[in-house]
Amino acid sequence: MSTATVPLRRRRAAARQSKNGEAKADIVVNLQGVSETMLWTLYDRACEARRPNPVLSDPESSRICAAIDYDFAGRFGVPDGSFAARAAEIDHLVLRWLEDHPNGVVASLGEGLETQAHRVDNGRMKWLTVDLPAAIAFRENFLQPSKRFRHIAASALDPLWAKEIDSDGDVLVVAQGLLMYLDPAAVKRLFNDIAARFPKAQMIFDVIPQWFSSLTMWGVMKTPYYRLPPMPWGIDTNDIEACLRAWSPGIESVSLLEYRAPRGWPRLADNLIRMHPGSEKYLPCLVHVTLGP
Ligand SMILES: C[S@@+](CC[C@H](N)C(=O)[O-])C[C@H]1O[C@@H](n2cnc3c(N)ncnc32)[C@H](O)[C@@H]1O
Repeated sequence: MSTATVPLRRRRAAARQSKNGEAKADIVVNLQGVSETMLWTLYDRACEARRPNPVLSDPESSRICAAIDYDFAGRFGVPDGSFAARAAEIDHLVLRWLEDHPNGVVASLGEGLETQAHRVDNGRMKWLTVDLPAAIAFRENFLQPSKRFRHIAASALDPLWAKEIDSDGDVLVVAQGLLMYLDPAAVKRLFNDIAARFPKAQMIFDVIPQWFSSLTMWGVMKTPYYRLPPMPWGIDTNDIEACLRAWSPGIESVSLLEYRAPRGWPRLADNLIRMHPGSEKYLPCLVHVTLGP
């Protein structure tokens, strides 16, 4: 049985502190399927944060990663910083939104072990973390909810979380590393539900290209010990705006933003693809949508 399938068992009520104050790696993992991917993105951010001149400063990821008893390197291989770069770009967008909406609410769907709220906190905003029940239970080993930082243990596809937010207020919905794992019909439904309930909101999410989605449906081994879960929703960047506008008439603007892995094979592939003009549509990217009339 791999470490990833060992039943969850907190050996102490929380990550213990060793004598020198460092958290001991004693939280055991029972996450499976898509929820296990939160460890992959966490590991990437944590390793990046430990590098000199990181693309993302993220001491919380480093703390959480160190407290988990899990063979991160064996399972996910050498981290390339691509998830850290993605998180850094989203941080910039969230910070810019908070400048205009300092008392706003950010709903982060499929948040896993992200600590973005801590990186961008202005002391006034409210943050809603939405994830599946097992994922929220695991998150709470490290991050406790509070009055401003709430946790909702439910699927993003469940209307429950949206009912917790005032539909007339300032709302930003972030879905980082989530939508590709959903069926295309579910992504459409989620997008339409958000647009209908929060007609003035903004949304930030990332997409993967169609070819990579197809590859994962066949089965991609990230390492000899880790097969990527299927990612059924892929879309090329030149199709995104038309697709979203066909889904919902209530869109004011759609912006596409690139993020680039700082190193490793994703950086190499990115460089190679960019050498062929017009091929950028085959790269992953971030999408920033402003809803409105
Ligand atoms: C790749 S991880 C991304 C985690 C985090 N956003 C990050 O970037 O580190 C995917 C996350 O989506 C969550 N997830 C999968 N299906 C979901 C659903 N239907 N509703 C909410 N969360 C979901 C998983 O539990 C997991 O935490």
